[in-house]
Amino acid sequence: MSERKHDPQGLSFVDEMRAASMKLHPKNLAKEGEKEPEGPAVSEWEPSVSGFLQFLVDSKLVYDTFEAIIREDAYYVELRNTGLERSEKLAEDLEWFKDQKRTIPEPSDRGHSHARYLEQISDKDPQAFICHFYNVYFAHSAGGPIIGRMVSAKILDNKELEFYKWDGVLSQLLQNVRSKLNKIASGWSRDEKDHCLEETEISFKYSKEILRLIQS
Ligand code: HEM
Repeated sequence: MSERKHDPQGLSFVDEMRAASMKLHPKNLAKEGEKEPEGPAVSEWEPSVSGFLQFLVDSKLVYDTFEAIIREDAYYVELRNTGLERSEKLAEDLEWFKDQKRTIPEPSDRGHSHARYLEQISDKDPQAFICHFYNVYFAHSAGGPIIGRMVSAKILDNKELEFYKWDGVLSQLLQNVRSKLNKIASGWSRDEKDHCLEETEISFKYSKEILRLIQS
């Protein structure tokens, strides 16, 4: 039996998802990270404008996919209009790049492959889908702004991107979504919860592929 099979005392399910995620963070990226560093800290990254633009385009495809599924699938009704949505913000940022005479690329295989995977699991594996939802949206609220500030300062002349801004108080939006996720998971068996936690690694794999574009 894995460690996770023991019902953790006093932890909400979101606390469990967070713990699974912190296990996969290198120590030099998040202070609660548990893995040895695999690369430089964000402050030492060397971003390129074309790589960052590709990252925004691929991220937009992923967020568009999440937001369309959540709009259409009744299972995810609780996750509609949470204020964490990113598609429209990303569209505004891409418009800004267009105004700067930048050509907006098509989404790459990395974006397509995460989007396709989300579509595949949304219907038949809601526990896996919720894991990706949590990791993508909460990662962006935590590590996202660190990356956003670094990129703005190094290559965008301190332009503040909409992707890293939320309408409303972010901590309250996140708290509201934590409650909704806990409510959804309250209907799951222990095995279903463990299945969701085990998906964390796959979620990291997809997101890390897209994050790597920033330095390409
Ligand atoms: C939390 C950094 C990549 C998922 C955090 C935190 C930091 C951070 C600083 C906050 C920890 C705290 O509360 O003290 C980063 C950086 C990354 C990165 C710099 C990449 C360069 C990822 C990836 C995922 C992820 C790839 C998953 C797809 C999360 C989640 C949390 C978190 C779910 C918890 C947020 C919360 O409790 O509100 N990350 N992270 N992160 N990160 Fe990351």
